[in-house]
Amino acid sequence: MTTSLDEVAYKMCAGGKGILAADESSSTIKKRFDAIGVESTFDNRRDYREMLFRSDEAMTKYISGVILFDETIRQKAKDGTPLVELIQKADSIPGIKVDAGAKPQPGAPGETITEGLDGLGGRLKEYYDLGARFAKWRAVIDIGAGIPSYTSLIANAQALARYAALCQEANIVPIVEPEVLMDGDHDIDRCYDVTEWVLKEVFQQLFYARIRLEGMVLKPNMIVPGMKSPKQVSYEQVAEKTVRVLKNCVPSAVPGIAFLSGGQSDEAATGHLDAMIKIGNLPWNLTFSYGRALQAAPQKAWSGKPENWGAGQAAFTHRAKMNYLAALGKWAADEEKKAA
Ligand code: 13P
Repeated sequence: MTTSLDEVAYKMCAGGKGILAADESSSTIKKRFDAIGVESTFDNRRDYREMLFRSDEAMTKYISGVILFDETIRQKAKDGTPLVELIQKADSIPGIKVDAGAKPQPGAPGETITEGLDGLGGRLKEYYDLGARFAKWRAVIDIGAGIPSYTSLIANAQALARYAALCQEANIVPIVEPEVLMDGDHDIDRCYDVTEWVLKEVFQQLFYARIRLEGMVLKPNMIVPGMKSPKQVSYEQVAEKTVRVLKNCVPSAVPGIAFLSGGQSDEAATGHLDAMIKIGNLPWNLTFSYGRALQAAPQKAWSGKPENWGAGQAAFTHRAKMNYLAALGKWAADEEKKAA
């Protein structure tokens, strides 16, 4: 049992492959569809995700696993094949988002606590039967005047640890995702300090919860300046600070670290990962677990039109391939110019 957890966790981040985060909640996918003028119906969401999961080259060569939303893990392709089966056939691993979202936290104005622990043990059993072999839980930490607070940080770290324990008990690999947001005008050093604090608290709570580190995946933010910061930095600076904070906080027993993109441009998300791998001598496999940085391009290319199915798949394949090359430290910016 433990071996299989370890194997899944390892496979999720190995060989340059990374994870497609396609677990947008109903409200988030509606926002994405609004931006491309597509109505967010059950069928349109199915068609869009089916297009991604049927992208053979991307799914077989570059994508190790897909994070699904509750609706999608139960959904069938147009021809009746379960979407989960499309993912499995490509030798990719289905996963499931299990948190119920970040809600305002009492006693911590401006901060959130991620909910969804009640009944989670039973839900994980059902998801396992539906094919899920890993799960995701996202804690959200904002940076601002006087925040984050210890109140919010410790509550989120404890929730992550309880979720991870329930996952491992259900033989499901937990993706532990404490996301420090890149909104705001703080500089890169403030992001470093907050992320270091967050990761220290999270690994402390994972220890108290008796989590098997070999059977989990960490999904952190990179160390970047706030989007509104006047002091933007190079790919190499982001890479150096991100690797430094990870080396200071993440035990080498953790097999893989898969980053979120968090609002970075497609190319920056790729370039930062590539620059980290080029530093070398890393104790864990580093890879991507992107939502927006893998999907913005295919969403635009597809725009809800059946005749754009091929263009959507090509755009997805291009981004998946760029990130695969980056996770091997073989990405070159001029590859980007070879349009999808
Ligand atoms: P982004 O890459 O768009 O940040 O999404 C990844 C994710 O799964 C956030 O929870």
